Amino acid sequence: MEKKHILIGVTGGIAAYKACDLVSTLSKNKNYEIKVMMTKHATEFVSPMSFEALSHNKVETSLFSETNEDPIAHISLASWADICVLVPATANIIAKVVNGIADDMVSTTFLACHTKKMICPAMNTHMYENPVTQQNLQKAIDLGYVIVDPAYGHLACNVDGKGKLAAVKDIVFAIDKELSDPFLKGKNVLISAGPTQEALDPVRFISNHSSGKQGYSIARQAYLAGANVTIVSGPVNQEPIEGVTIVPATSAQSMFEAIKERLEETDYIIMAAAVADYRPEIVADQKIKKHDNTLDVHFVKNPDILAYIGQKKRPNQIVCGFAMETQDLDKNAKEKLEKKNCDMLIANNLFVEGAGFKTDTNVVTLIRKNSLEHLPKLTKIELGLKILKTMKEIEEEVVSC
Ligand code: PMT
Repeated sequence: MEKKHILIGVTGGIAAYKACDLVSTLSKNKNYEIKVMMTKHATEFVSPMSFEALSHNKVETSLFSETNEDPIAHISLASWADICVLVPATANIIAKVVNGIADDMVSTTFLACHTKKMICPAMNTHMYENPVTQQNLQKAIDLGYVIVDPAYGHLACNVDGKGKLAAVKDIVFAIDKELSDPFLKGKNVLISAGPTQEALDPVRFISNHSSGKQGYSIARQAYLAGANVTIVSGPVNQEPIEGVTIVPATSAQSMFEAIKERLEETDYIIMAAAVADYRPEIVADQKIKKHDNTLDVHFVKNPDILAYIGQKKRPNQIVCGFAMETQDLDKNAKEKLEKKNCDMLIANNLFVEGAGFKTDTNVVTLIRKNSLEHLPKLTKIELGLKILKTMKEIEEEVVSC
């Protein structure tokens, strides 16, 4: 895949140091190449050398520098970029770029850019709230630039208010959104994530180690690909994802109800949740007291949500199940795919390093009706994209049949 080119314009505010973290984070994405340009004022806060080290590219600071290898670097950079991001964007640079002023490397290159443009403001609250800045930001929106709003917080000028640079993860998310291929535009995607909790009494439950990372990672990628995304989520500590609807569910039965309600309108269904197969038959009204040396609990079977989906699914609904195994991974997973009538199944083995619960990575076998692919270790985010692309392929095959 060809790398996307991100051009970061750093301007002179105290938040310039946070741009280092942004460049470092973006550089770790192997689908991105990063270049940085800075205003003279920005170089008072952070040295260009820091950005050179983090981006692995030369940093441009002046239109006229004698050391410029490229005499028209502002034009070359502008045509190189797939997106130009001003971060932090001072009130001054915002005023300049919305009025076509081009009097330094950053403003001139921004004017020359014919690609997507993003502004991440950071400044003193009074400067931010000043009607002139607000008018300029409105003008930026009207010009089609994406604004990543600043946050509330304690600012370097000792004021509490709006003006703090948005969190780096939110800026990365906004950039990812702009650069993503919208291959799922208009699709309704339903994902189950996390564990279920099966109550024993008002204070205790039986559960498992699922963190929800895998399900939430798929949801993030589906949203970036343009889908309308709903997560039916067991109890997890994952941060909500902007633009994604989260429907909480605690037990297998409540997860089943929440999924059944939404099944009709769904195009892609992914069951990444670790759903309890059994629940205690009786949930005690009061806390179970400690009397004997042993406690007998009788369990009854929970509904198999994936099997239900497999039975009810329309031919153009694409269903992906997961399988958590500890032995005979491929054989057991293939059987699950057939038994539960899934279009594909992602099998992970708890005993493989970097796979399964809580990790940021997974090592899986991707099983389709007529094929089986052992994937290398991927981040759960990368695997999310792979799953969605494969589901899209399956859908296209179904449509062309
Ligand atoms: O959340 P993380 O910490 O990131 O961990 C990710 C994960 C390990 C939970 C995930 O990768 C995974 O393997 N999820 C499925 C776990 C599981 O329940 O596997 P299973 O083999 O028991 O179930 C097979 C399939 O049937 C699964 O899609 C499951 O969601 C579904 N199922 C199971 C039982 C049940 N009563 N109803 C179901 O729908």
